[in-house]
Amino acid sequence: MRVGVPTEIKTDEHRVAITPAGVAAFTARGHEVAIESGAGVGSAIPDDAYRAAGAAIVDGADAVWDRADLVLKVKEPLEPEFERMRPGQVLFTYLHLAASEQLTAGLLERRIVGIGYETVQLADGTLPLLVPMSEVAGRLSIQAGAACLERRAGGKGILLPGVSGVRRGLITIIGAGVVGMNACVVGVGLGAEVTILDINPLRLGYVRDVVQGHVTTLMSNAANIEGAVASADLVVCSVLIPGARAPRLVTRAHLAQMEPGSALVDVAVDQGGCAETSRPTTHRDPRYVEEGVVHYCVSNMPGAVPHTSTYALTNATMTYALEIADRGWREAAGRDTALASGVNVVDGHVTHEAVAGAHGFEYMPLAEAAG
Ligand SMILES: NC(=O)c1ccc[n+]([C@@H]2O[C@H](COP(=O)([O-])OP(=O)(O)OC[C@H]3O[C@@H](n4cnc5c(N)ncnc54)[C@H](O)[C@@H]3O)[C@@H](O)[C@H]2O)c1
Repeated sequence: MRVGVPTEIKTDEHRVAITPAGVAAFTARGHEVAIESGAGVGSAIPDDAYRAAGAAIVDGADAVWDRADLVLKVKEPLEPEFERMRPGQVLFTYLHLAASEQLTAGLLERRIVGIGYETVQLADGTLPLLVPMSEVAGRLSIQAGAACLERRAGGKGILLPGVSGVRRGLITIIGAGVVGMNACVVGVGLGAEVTILDINPLRLGYVRDVVQGHVTTLMSNAANIEGAVASADLVVCSVLIPGARAPRLVTRAHLAQMEPGSALVDVAVDQGGCAETSRPTTHRDPRYVEEGVVHYCVSNMPGAVPHTSTYALTNATMTYALEIADRGWREAAGRDTALASGVNVVDGHVTHEAVAGAHGFEYMPLAEAAG
């Protein structure tokens, strides 16, 4: 199969959909890989590294799309990419179609096969192609929070690990899922005092075991949240209720009880945010101060560390991409229900029920559309 990887064109997106190891895996199985010149530069992967792994480096996105049977990307396609799509071409990328009727309609019109990373779902409900980005965001949240606490950012000037004879920082993490656990691991590793809250006791037990007891776990309820937020130097919000807006757990009144110059990193801002005062920010202008608390609310945190994010993402996507290339998308999806749940559009039909429901399009079961 001919695999194509264009440069991402979304503003401030520096990830790329393949690494040199991925190229080597495709070529070892007899597939051809064409990569747009410069596609890896934002992730610190030069053309030469891809070339050495067996890829053809081509000039311009048209040359990639023209010859590819399978296009690998990171972000959803943008307007200039629509004209490049051909009927029957397979696009494997984050699509988030439920969030955009225009994008869904565009893909239907181009009659491509659109497989969305975000809807690939294992039998236990986990989303294996979202997990790596949650890991990155969770670990990064402590780094971002530490920067907020620095004086130059408006913070109170606290070093999270403390030093001999001086107290360490207090971190409160609300939500002990993938983001929360990764934040906890970094916070504990840094030497801060960490409290983590969740409504699921099993998650709390798991996190406590992972950090070998070096954490305070609390059931998430109004009283515990209020107490843990008031005493924290840094609050990390990492709650998710699948399919719903993030609950507003941290109020203005809670923040008013924190010491001035404390920090809040709302990782859940991409789902509306857990704090009353959260609003999405960008990597160019990531912080603002409200109620005396320095807020960091970047909705695409992994974009700050594209090298790590590219490797983390492709570690997860490559197994599926290789299956699609080896067997063709129909057989690959037929053998793997997780991949099948990732197929959102086929030849002008919506094959994902939630996407169809979101925009009032007719839903066609995959088996029927794959015909
Ligand atoms: N900003 C970014 O760049 C970025 C990147 C990755 C993920 N995210 C977001 O981070 C959030 C967390 O993602 P995740 O992968 O960790 O999800 P997850 O499903 O692994 O974890 C969510 C946790 O929230 C807990 N929870 C639900 N209601 C709660 C409540 N009232 N109090 C405390 N805990 C509660 C759940 O029990 C679960 O353990 C999501 O909103 C996700 O979209 C943002």
